[in-house]
Amino acid sequence: MIELKNIVKDYDNGKCCTHALRGVNLKIEKGELVSIVGPSGSGKSTLLNILGGMDSATSGEYMYNGELVSSYDFIKLHCFRKENISFVFQNFALMNQYTVYENVEMPLLARRIKKRKEIVRRCLENVGIMELANKYPTQISGGQQQRCAIARALAANTQLILADEPTGALDKATAEEIIDCFIEMNKMGKTVIIITHDLNIAKRCNKIIHIEDGILVEE
Ligand SMILES: Nc1ncnc2c1ncn2[C@@H]1O[C@H](COP(=O)(O)OP(=O)(O)OP(=O)(O)O)[C@@H](O)[C@H]1O
Ligand SMILES: [Mg+2]
Repeated sequence: MIELKNIVKDYDNGKCCTHALRGVNLKIEKGELVSIVGPSGSGKSTLLNILGGMDSATSGEYMYNGELVSSYDFIKLHCFRKENISFVFQNFALMNQYTVYENVEMPLLARRIKKRKEIVRRCLENVGIMELANKYPTQISGGQQQRCAIARALAANTQLILADEPTGALDKATAEEIIDCFIEMNKMGKTVIIITHDLNIAKRCNKIIHIEDGILVEE
């Protein structure tokens, strides 16, 4: 499904240049549950953002389902994201002025999908927060907010779900529950890639990718 060939990402601010990724080669198959681990500043988020079409590589090839994503312009990249990718972030990134229900409904509205009520209910049930549908994000716990973000990703019904430290703001027990949610989504057929600092979480994935100083390393 995913193939990266010699992906390089440089951040150049005119004065100095940071080599965030220095030649990453990677293959990920459909239906895999993958974790990315590595020290702070090693390039994890940079890699995830390129996979998600949030950012473009400086050089190298990114193939997704046989399409050369690295050749896409801004507009094609936007369409690629909308069709294929859902993000889950450490800080949940919910819209605080909308209810849990409305947050989960949002990707359905963006895609002009009908019968939204049924879909939202099913997604909320999948992550176990049906009873919180009418609450606002500020009225529920961090773990519940992350469940809401996962339900939103489910509603978007994309093949690929990318998570950048999704348990970083949660206590250990809640983090375990959130990982259970991701494992459930993976069982539903989603391809899931999770950045984590927590090796216990990484071990629950089928595959662990180690990155150091912008290069993938063997464990
Ligand atoms: N927008 C940017 N402009 C300039 N440099 C950047 C930018 N984003 C990231 N970097 C640099 O690129 C390198 C990789 O950053 P990245 O955010 O991918 O690391 P990370 O592995 O996700 O770290 P962390 O675990 O702290 O989140 C770092 O040296 C960082 O300072
Ligand atoms: Mg990061």
